[in-house]
Amino acid sequence: MTPEPMNSESEGAADRGFEHIAEALRTQAWCVIPDALPAALCAALAGQVLDAAPAQFSPAGIGRHQGHTLAPDIRRDAIHWITGKTPAEQAWLQWADALRLFLNRRLFLGLDTFESHFAHYAPGAFYRKHRDAFRDAGANAATRRVVSVVAYFNADWGAEDGGELVMYDDAGATPLQRVLPLAGTLVVFLSEDVPHEVCSARRDRYSIAGWYRVRATTSPL
Ligand code: OGA
Ligand code: MN
Repeated sequence: MTPEPMNSESEGAADRGFEHIAEALRTQAWCVIPDALPAALCAALAGQVLDAAPAQFSPAGIGRHQGHTLAPDIRRDAIHWITGKTPAEQAWLQWADALRLFLNRRLFLGLDTFESHFAHYAPGAFYRKHRDAFRDAGANAATRRVVSVVAYFNADWGAEDGGELVMYDDAGATPLQRVLPLAGTLVVFLSEDVPHEVCSARRDRYSIAGWYRVRATTSPL
């Protein structure tokens, strides 16, 4: 038996999507891709998140570890961390790992780990303008976020539904792009370079936010 060639048709398709992401990160730090997730994966994740009981979500906060606090003036989404407990979560983590390996090969980013959560923005919920990582914050941190990924699971979303993701230039002043959180759309950006906000949603809004981390190059003494 001859083994499946590495560039079988489906891998080729995934690689073409990944290639687009890598090129966009290299040249402009962010990209928005409609229908980026494989349809079956998107449907499985949407099925899980739309069926989830409210009790499976907890109010999101800001800061890590001891510094973690609820901050309802800054964000009002509720989250569910993805650990691989369901087949849909496993398939997502596999897809995310394939993208990690691809970005490491193409851009030499050295991404080590991936973390992600589902997020539910109830009507009225928002996430004020923020960065997912800060250039000077890493001195004592063992790892830092380098690449952010956001995927959406909402059918028929229009501008009147609010809840857009707005990405800004590095100075945080000029909007670069507004993104409707439509099922299948994927957003990828460099965590330190792209301030962004989630406008107040007028309908229930479901997404996944994920981050690739690298180990810090200098370890604390
Ligand atoms: C985040 C975030 C964006 C979105 O969770 O850090 O910015 O569109 N999410 O859900
Ligand atoms: Mn963010």
